Amino acid sequence: MEIIIQPDRESASLLAAAKIARLVREKPHAVLGLATGGSPLDVYGELVRLHREGRADFAYVTTFNLDEYLGLPGAHPASYRHFMQEHLFRHINIPSGNTHIPEGLTEDVPEACKQYEEAIRQAGGIDLQLLGIGTDGHIGFNEPSSSLASRTRIKSLTEQTQQDNRRFFQPGEHVPRHVITMGVGTIMEAREIVLLAFGANKAEAVAATVEGPITASVPASILQMHPAAKIILDEEAAGELKRADYYRSVFASKPAWQQI
Ligand code: F6R
Repeated sequence: MEIIIQPDRESASLLAAAKIARLVREKPHAVLGLATGGSPLDVYGELVRLHREGRADFAYVTTFNLDEYLGLPGAHPASYRHFMQEHLFRHINIPSGNTHIPEGLTEDVPEACKQYEEAIRQAGGIDLQLLGIGTDGHIGFNEPSSSLASRTRIKSLTEQTQQDNRRFFQPGEHVPRHVITMGVGTIMEAREIVLLAFGANKAEAVAATVEGPITASVPASILQMHPAAKIILDEEAAGELKRADYYRSVFASKPAWQQI
């Protein structure tokens, strides 16, 4: 695991976007795993800017999102399909058929999950998976106690996650309890992983992920076993790391080409 501590969210996001843009330049048919929520917003903003400047071409890229709320149609403003359209897809040249998000209105959840896994396989697997992290240590919507070998399936959100995500819904609107999410095992098969965490409310989950034991109680801690995972943080999210100075010095001593 590589821990990269940046002064703020903006510089952290620019770094993550530069890494994705480089991958897409080097491998035009790259398969990206994408996340929703607050953490990747500035990364998507920067990818859109790079695309407009002619520095990132998504014509042959394929994407798979981590998760979707069950029961929300793609047109619902809080659905993750809608989120991705608004913040990334409609601003870049990715063919809509190349974008995959679990189907929130499916009537056969096990079959939809099986097909999602199959589609990832057929695309050749995920080259780079972008992740956020829940305040409870979840990745995707794999809440604490999720099997670390799990595949795409239905999950129930914790009270905490429902509360954290209430901000994306209208006041008084019900936050769905059930979701379809890639499993921890699915995520771990990505060839590279970039996890973003910003703000003091992520500091505890980040410290448990990076410096705690590997445990299903903190699903993100399994990233310690991934051969190519980068954890990109702002200073606040790094606030509870014991070895922060070591991580800073390792990153600072790298040549520029190795920093992304
Ligand atoms: C989103 C996802 C979640 C979020 C996490 C952090 O697709 O899978 O794991 O990444 O809940 O959310 P934010 O970034 O809103 O703090």
